[in-house]
Amino acid sequence: MPGTKRVFVKTFGCQMNVYDSERMSESLVPYGFTETDRIEEADVIILNTCHIREKAAEKVYSELGRLRHIKDVRRQNGKNTVITVAGCVAQAEGAEILARAPVVDLVIGPQSYHRLPDLVFRAQSESRRLVDTNFPEQDKFTKLPDRKVKSAPPTGAARAASAFLTVQEGCDKFCTFCVVPYTRGVEYSRPVADLVDEARELISRGVREITLLGQNVNAYHGVGPDGRDWSLARLIRALGEVEGLQRLRYTTSHPKDMSDDLIAAHRDEPKLMPYLHLPFQAGADRILAAMNRKHTAADYRRLIDKIRSARPDIALSTDVIVGFPGETEGEFLETLRLVEDIGFAQAFSFKYSPRPGTPAAKMEEQLPDAIKSERLQRLQHLLASQTSRFNDSCIGRIIPVLFERLGRHAGQIVGRSPYLQPVHATGARDLLGHIIPVEISGAGPNSLLGVIRAA
Ligand code: 5AD
Ligand code: SF4
Repeated sequence: MPGTKRVFVKTFGCQMNVYDSERMSESLVPYGFTETDRIEEADVIILNTCHIREKAAEKVYSELGRLRHIKDVRRQNGKNTVITVAGCVAQAEGAEILARAPVVDLVIGPQSYHRLPDLVFRAQSESRRLVDTNFPEQDKFTKLPDRKVKSAPPTGAARAASAFLTVQEGCDKFCTFCVVPYTRGVEYSRPVADLVDEARELISRGVREITLLGQNVNAYHGVGPDGRDWSLARLIRALGEVEGLQRLRYTTSHPKDMSDDLIAAHRDEPKLMPYLHLPFQAGADRILAAMNRKHTAADYRRLIDKIRSARPDIALSTDVIVGFPGETEGEFLETLRLVEDIGFAQAFSFKYSPRPGTPAAKMEEQLPDAIKSERLQRLQHLLASQTSRFNDSCIGRIIPVLFERLGRHAGQIVGRSPYLQPVHATGARDLLGHIIPVEISGAGPNSLLGVIRAA
């Protein structure tokens, strides 16, 4: 199938989807496709959707309404367009999408991405509308073509120095508010050897930092070269030995799976960055139990103490939900107290929103939106002050920054501190892809300003 067909991918939601989107468009390259950022010229349009937020499906349908126009105009010009819905909304809604949105040709769940080229081909040649949301496929990644197929750097080379690598997918935790176990299925860990190969490939393309991804990444237990299951800590140590790799991160973790060897890796593995995203969701034990989190607030505090003893400068990040069914004002205050006591460098906070099919959606005592909004505002006020305090504490320090992209202003380059803060500095373009000491001269709510010091 030679020629120059174009694929356009629009990604919603988490980093897992960013990774999947890259892999989906790469998988079409051997079939004569190149990626485009101009939707009107795309022969295949993929919406890679996220189901975690409220009204996620509605947003997809309204996006599809816009695509109908593009498809009509292309048809008038004699061009065919395959419109594909991928990701968690595809998994959750399945054939319902075809029924509700006639513009859609293909619905594909996250476990079926290796079949994308075949499905696209069939949709084009047989003019059929297809759904593939089957579950039990295991390593979809090994069935996707090697990352080598891609000759050009990702469009825009936005974070070419830094890349994501999915090491684990799915989740068996069944937090009662969450759709992930239903949309992404049971936990699956990729084999160590495949991950080391893929890391080498990324490094050969100029990547210096890899973020290991998984819905429950610290539950990683992939098969090692010795035939036994390796933990995330062992995987991190193995990747730490890969030449050319300078920084490692992982996200997102569950407190229950924060094992001693992983904590020790934060002390011993110099390439593992001092940053940890560890959601606690709520501060009251009754709510944590209703959420099926399998840990108490005291467990979380003890865990943080242990992590901080291993790596005192670690920057902590978290996810918090307010207004879970039945949450009292007193229980919300326990959430605020936990935040106050721990001190986060970064956090993501949400109003509880019922997700169809999850146990919490059926619970009585759903709270009115006004209460959730008011609590969210108080929480976000506290979290913002903590982020500012953390950013301010960096002023005057010299911090190694991995520069990743050009800034918006002429002569400006932007990178990341070890603590994941964006750092803006004036510097030459050829510093991109390098780690350079920067003296921090200013701090904003979400980023730092610095002056480059001689390396
Ligand atoms: N309502 C609100 N927040 C949610 N999250 C997941 N499901 C819900 C929901 N139903 C949040 C959790 C999770 C993050 C990715 O999204 O805090 O850690
Ligand atoms: Fe969802 Fe995370 Fe809970 Fe798994 S651990 S069910 S992904 S919130």
